[in-house]
Amino acid sequence: MDRRWFDLDGRVALVTGASRGLGRTMALALARAGADVILSARTRPALDEVAHEVQALGRKACVIAADVTKEDDVRLLVRQGVAAFGRIDILVNNAGIGESRPVVELDTEEWDRTMAVNVRGPMLCCKHVGPVMVEQRRGKVINVASVLATRVARYMSLYSASKAALVQFTRTLALEWVRYNIQVNALCPGYFLTDMNRDFFASERGQQFIRELPMRRLGEAHELEGAVVFLASDASSYVTGTCLYVDGGYSLL
Ligand SMILES: NC(=O)c1ccc[n+]([C@@H]2O[C@H](COP(=O)([O-])OP(=O)(O)OC[C@H]3O[C@@H](n4cnc5c(N)ncnc54)[C@H](OP(=O)(O)O)[C@@H]3O)[C@@H](O)[C@H]2O)c1
Repeated sequence: MDRRWFDLDGRVALVTGASRGLGRTMALALARAGADVILSARTRPALDEVAHEVQALGRKACVIAADVTKEDDVRLLVRQGVAAFGRIDILVNNAGIGESRPVVELDTEEWDRTMAVNVRGPMLCCKHVGPVMVEQRRGKVINVASVLATRVARYMSLYSASKAALVQFTRTLALEWVRYNIQVNALCPGYFLTDMNRDFFASERGQQFIRELPMRRLGEAHELEGAVVFLASDASSYVTGTCLYVDGGYSLL
């Protein structure tokens, strides 16, 4: 085992949804492993704070506000990212949303919005980063799906459907880009405390849910770091089209 396989020195990563939660954690993990980072989300101030944290680690950061559902934004994001750093080696499609709701209460606007962020967004980022990686003959795409892509939880039909679509998108794209030395994988987290689920896990139902998890606890954000660095680095050069579960055993249930 050579530790340099995990070294991201000289690599450039683009992380969407990097302003908070798991995206922030993964952006900092990639920087700690040596990468310069293009940080994106819709709102700028929180991104600037993450950029300072990246710089404090001795890496370069570039902040570009973009809504992943809008193709013009994504086109500009990639163009400005390449202008800033000259290349993109790693794309982490992390931006995502999700609410829990019974099917009879779902409205079409919520359906379309969730599908747009969770599926169309990663597609647009792949579409526009793809030519850069193809030209480099090297790239790593990490699509942040969820354990709910393959497992079910009550009232999570919309979110689960969007993440299942993202996994099949990942697998198909992995085959499409295998000839260009681009590895495309899905990272499937279990349950981690973030703004997305804070209210639920504070509730009695949420607390009961935690007690029923195999490890009887939520994941800690840092517990995703090893997985994202692995999928972003040469250590995963023969790994493509797979789903890496980081879920404390939830998918065993
Ligand atoms: N937390 C968990 O337990 C868990 C488990 C499994 C999977 N995941 C997945 O992990 C990813 C991150 O989740 P999280 O819990 O860290 O969520 P979060 O704390 O709510 O953060 C979401 C991030 O996405 C950005 N974002 C939202 N809509 C966007 C859009 N249209 N365009 C660009 N950026 C957008 C947000 O910034 P702005 O609002 O400023 O745009 C923010 O940076 C998601 O894909 C989620 O489905 C999370």
